[in-house]
Amino acid sequence: MFRAGSAGSKVQKLVSRTGPGPASRPETDGKARLAQIVLPLDKILTGDCVEAMRALPEASVDLVFADPPYNLQLEGGLTRPDQSQVDAVDDDWDKFASFADYDRFTRYWLTAARRAMKPDATIFVIGSYHNIFRVGAILQDLGFWILNDIVWRKANPMPNFRGRRFTNAHETLIWASKSASAKNYTFNYEALKAGNEDRQMRSDWFFPICTGAERLKDEAGRKTHPTQKPEALLARILMAASRPGDVVLDPFFGSGTTGAVAKKLGRHFIGCERDPIYIEAARARIAATGPIHGGAFSTPPGKRQETRVAFASLVEAAMIAPGTLLFDEKRRHQAMVRADGALALGDIVGSIHKIGALAQGLPACNGWTFWHFDCEGERICIDDLRGQYREIAKTCQGA
Ligand SMILES: C[S@@+](CC[C@H](N)C(=O)[O-])C[C@H]1O[C@@H](n2cnc3c(N)ncnc32)[C@H](O)[C@@H]1O
Repeated sequence: MFRAGSAGSKVQKLVSRTGPGPASRPETDGKARLAQIVLPLDKILTGDCVEAMRALPEASVDLVFADPPYNLQLEGGLTRPDQSQVDAVDDDWDKFASFADYDRFTRYWLTAARRAMKPDATIFVIGSYHNIFRVGAILQDLGFWILNDIVWRKANPMPNFRGRRFTNAHETLIWASKSASAKNYTFNYEALKAGNEDRQMRSDWFFPICTGAERLKDEAGRKTHPTQKPEALLARILMAASRPGDVVLDPFFGSGTTGAVAKKLGRHFIGCERDPIYIEAARARIAATGPIHGGAFSTPPGKRQETRVAFASLVEAAMIAPGTLLFDEKRRHQAMVRADGALALGDIVGSIHKIGALAQGLPACNGWTFWHFDCEGERICIDDLRGQYREIAKTCQGA
């Protein structure tokens, strides 16, 4: 049985579902078959996640983040060289009778999560060497399509106390779409790149494990949850693969990291958790979390979504005069703007991209960012002109 406990805002979302109606009902009236189901937004569903996810409307969530039991199989307590006990994960929720048992559980929850995913939703599953290979194979068996595996390298991993293995200093995230045919999944490529020194975001991430003020503790100073994930990790995931207002499902909510970060970043969450102590801690944590300013997380339009502008349009709009000399940033190459919007490099005529590539002897070049010109002693990139052109075009369309 599931109780839906409110853990944040009281928002509810209506989801339209057009599934087959009962056999006795005539199929004549399409509207009668349209069932409207309330999505339990910003709530923690108490109980087993498989049952909870099965009760969610089909195709209703935009992103899943799952931090399932790792099946660590710890034999006996783990001690440091000074014989003090290591605070390792030895909780019942992480214990399975066998690999087969773990695989069965993994298949159940992944199937239930997949059903709840919209066609273009994606899923991140985090795990360690104990479970992630099993999870990866099952993801593929169930029809998910793996997009990346991401290594979260820990800045401050726990040492290997026995000195019998390498320090286990990373965890792996698998990012997958619902199926191979899902092509319109959310990936905020441009925003991630802009925040990464204008370089593509890579699949190796570096964050400290959750420590300090962020770590939830009980009155006795003990960790509330043994595997609380750092908020920075969740923020990276949500900023990469969701948009404001999206619904993020976390089947293994634990201390509520996903909920806290979703609230901060203007996303909705649905959490599943069966331990009442963790649920209480997560509720208090989320209630104490405030959203950050909307402008700080709104998704900028991706370059591909922006209107295409031909270089010739800038010439036609008299934003750059024919005969203007263009240079690269270091002034190693030079080409001339032609009246038809092409560039001339000696006798060769071509697009800003083709001439940029040719000048450098490269197979390709983004001419917009490569070429610059001098204007009243200032060097201006033609991409800035393109930006101005877009602004003017938007104003004209609005007028
Ligand atoms: C690895 S922890 C998740 C920690 C979480 N990401 C965080 O940052 O706090 C896994 C959680 O899943 C819960 N859990 C395990 N099996 C479950 C199930 N079948 N249904 C619901 N919750 C479950 C456990 O109680 C535990 O809190």
